[in-house]
Amino acid sequence: MSIFSNKRITLGVTGSIAAYKAADLASKLTQAGAQVDVIFTGAAEKFVTPLTFQSVTGRRGYSDNDLWGNEAHVLHVGLGHAADLLVIAPCTANTIAKLAHGQADNLLTVTALAMQSPLLIAPAMEAGMYDHPATQENIGILKKRGATFIGPAEGHLASGLAGIGRMLETAEILEHIRLLLGQHGPLAGKRVVVTAGGTQEPLDPVRVLTNRSSGKQGYALAQAALDLGAQVTLITAPTALTPPTGARLVAVETAKQMLAAVLQESAGSDALIMAAAVADFRPKNASRDKLKKADGIPQVELEATEDILKTVAAQRQGGKRPRLVVGFAAESRDLLENAAAKLKSKGLDFIAANDISAKDAGFAAETNRVTLLFADGRQEALSLMSKAEVAEVILGWVSKLLE
Ligand code: CTP
Repeated sequence: MSIFSNKRITLGVTGSIAAYKAADLASKLTQAGAQVDVIFTGAAEKFVTPLTFQSVTGRRGYSDNDLWGNEAHVLHVGLGHAADLLVIAPCTANTIAKLAHGQADNLLTVTALAMQSPLLIAPAMEAGMYDHPATQENIGILKKRGATFIGPAEGHLASGLAGIGRMLETAEILEHIRLLLGQHGPLAGKRVVVTAGGTQEPLDPVRVLTNRSSGKQGYALAQAALDLGAQVTLITAPTALTPPTGARLVAVETAKQMLAAVLQESAGSDALIMAAAVADFRPKNASRDKLKKADGIPQVELEATEDILKTVAAQRQGGKRPRLVVGFAAESRDLLENAAAKLKSKGLDFIAANDISAKDAGFAAETNRVTLLFADGRQEALSLMSKAEVAEVILGWVSKLLE
């Protein structure tokens, strides 16, 4: 997650019991490479101590005592201006109200008023306080000014009641921070469509023909595109993965559905990256009813599916083809020859050739060994790397070629 490295994040912690979870957030951000400066309100210090946060961030935390210290006149300006992002998690109804009205009576609200970087707020409060028209109006004011609100979620609340008011979990907050950190990247304003997973072709209502694709490489590509600021549509066959926050998801099952989704979503887009393992054959006559053992062993006749990339290439004339089209080649032998042939026949700008016979690369593996072949004959052999790193290199090329 190189997107966090060397980023400066100011984390505001306010007076909610969820403040203890903010220590985990500060820790995870620090582990991911960010510099985290924590500012506590007085109420937050009733729930947690600055020492907890200093221990996980390796940096001193700031409280209202610092507001009246020697460096006070520069501290809030410094904390505000140096930050790439101000995250307030948990954020109480009281702090939301202060921010909405430009009040600046503690170090956190003074800093928020002095800073120009984006503001991400993870509210935490009782359901009644969250629903109150005053809070809802204050949230509306801040949203209009560009603040991003995430959550609160529904669940158990400190009062013992259940309702909407729980702060999001650390992992979800991290995903939203990641999205905001990437938003002004080199692909900002660009539309990127990624396909992922192995399509499923029905034999009958319960059985399908599918392949070993895990979807990991495709999901990593979608994440890498988001990290560079792209608007991402992820067209996905069924997988066990959690989609990256910020991607628009289009769920499909069959090659035919994927073709329709790709044509619709990629028309006029900036880039299409086909990482999906699309079935080449499907049962010609899928049975409407479950095939029964008593009826004997079925003879399954197959027919060819549509080649999605070839269909996209044929649209070049209509101006509907994405500006850049990237494919994958899954090969168990003659890797480069086969990949070069696919590059040409599918009209691609470049192709990622993937040796699926190796244990450390291909379908289920966490790592991949890929060679990129470009339309102009250039080749780049990447060493063994994680699928996330492969995705970063591919998106690096996408952004370079779109310049
Ligand atoms: N692909 C496609 N439509 C298909 C099959 C594949 O668009 N019906 C895309 C894949 O998403 C991939 C590229 O074409 O980006 C190459 O896929 P691959 O399975 O390696 O090649 P095939 O064209 O299926 O050829 P073969 O199976 O004979 O190697």
